[in-house]
Amino acid sequence: MNKTTAAITAVGGYVPDFVLSNKVLETMVDTNDEWITSRTGIKERRILKEENAGTSYMAIRAAQDLIKKGNVDPSEIDFVLVATATPDLPVASTAAYVASEIGAVNAFAYDLQAACSSFLYGMSTAASYIESGKYKKVLVIGADKMSSILDYTDRTTCIIFGDGAGAVLFEPNEEGLGVQDEYLRSDGVGRQFLKIDAGGSILPASEETVKNKQHYVYQDGKSVFKFAVSNMAEVSALIMERNNLSHEDVQWLVPHQANKRIIDATANRMGVDSEKVMINIDRYGNTTSATLPLLLFDYEKQLKKGDNLIFAAFGGGFTWGSIYLKWAYNS
Ligand SMILES: CC(C)(COP(=O)(O)OP(=O)(O)OC[C@H]1O[C@@H](n2cnc3c(N)ncnc32)[C@H](O)[C@@H]1OP(=O)(O)O)[C@@H](O)C(=O)NCCC(=O)NCCS
Repeated sequence: MNKTTAAITAVGGYVPDFVLSNKVLETMVDTNDEWITSRTGIKERRILKEENAGTSYMAIRAAQDLIKKGNVDPSEIDFVLVATATPDLPVASTAAYVASEIGAVNAFAYDLQAACSSFLYGMSTAASYIESGKYKKVLVIGADKMSSILDYTDRTTCIIFGDGAGAVLFEPNEEGLGVQDEYLRSDGVGRQFLKIDAGGSILPASEETVKNKQHYVYQDGKSVFKFAVSNMAEVSALIMERNNLSHEDVQWLVPHQANKRIIDATANRMGVDSEKVMINIDRYGNTTSATLPLLLFDYEKQLKKGDNLIFAAFGGGFTWGSIYLKWAYNS
């Protein structure tokens, strides 16, 4: 009997309508289009402007898009995982709310937080649940409202991030398609370089922390960049090596969209040509947990059954890793 693998069988996505371009950012902070484009590859990002709408607003829409396109009966979904660094509320699972709103009435649901690696880790969780034989339909949503934790007077962070959501469905596969291998890592040394100081259990929110802007993202960009370049490239090359994949065997690199230069360095190390590298950072910026599923959402039509995809991510914590997956359908 064939081993059961976990394959992606449907994809959905959602980005807010509001576009925040580099040109508009020029009017908000001391920056310019040329600097942002050459240092990051970003031209514009989407911002969720709806009042009283949090991450779940986008997660629900991405999931509904998947349900409609994939003709999925939501009552058959076993588990809903929302990968996010910006949950609706500090306590109360965003995933539980999303599951109820999309009609996944028989599912259990929880959030997974590993900064920009949340979705990659979520893929691993989903695959393990499917491979165990316990669950048949696992919905993994990557969603973040980064605009809710950014200081739009800080030019070092506000130019990088955007809002968005993407969703994928994992189901058992008996043809050997889906997740083949994974290599996940973390290192707590990274906490000092990318963090939000206040609002957690060490420094609960107070008048003082708000005044000091400690509830916004702080990033030492240079240090994060150094770690990201070497680690994302290393794990991607490693997963190719241990699965005996040459650059010709890889149809697509699906890299976290943090910075175009980090993506290029990873592709170079793997020996993968640029036309095989999924990119949408120019239009969405870094949407944290949503980058990987939004890439699948954008490139779905170009993917063919049997294609070898290498996913790679790096994020705060530090957290990082790579997953090798065989695509399971033609759309
Ligand atoms: C943030 C990042 C784009 C900055 O690029 P960089 O090449 O490292 O730039 P530096 O921080 O060294 O800054 C270079 C100069 O540009 C200035 N600068 C910073 N932000 C700027 C902006 N938005 N516009 C114009 N100038 C800016 C700096 O003040 C500095 O000026 P100085 O030389 O006079 O001191 C880059 O470090 C990065 O992408 N890091 C990783 C971020 C990341 O991936 N985060 C998410 C992890 S998943």
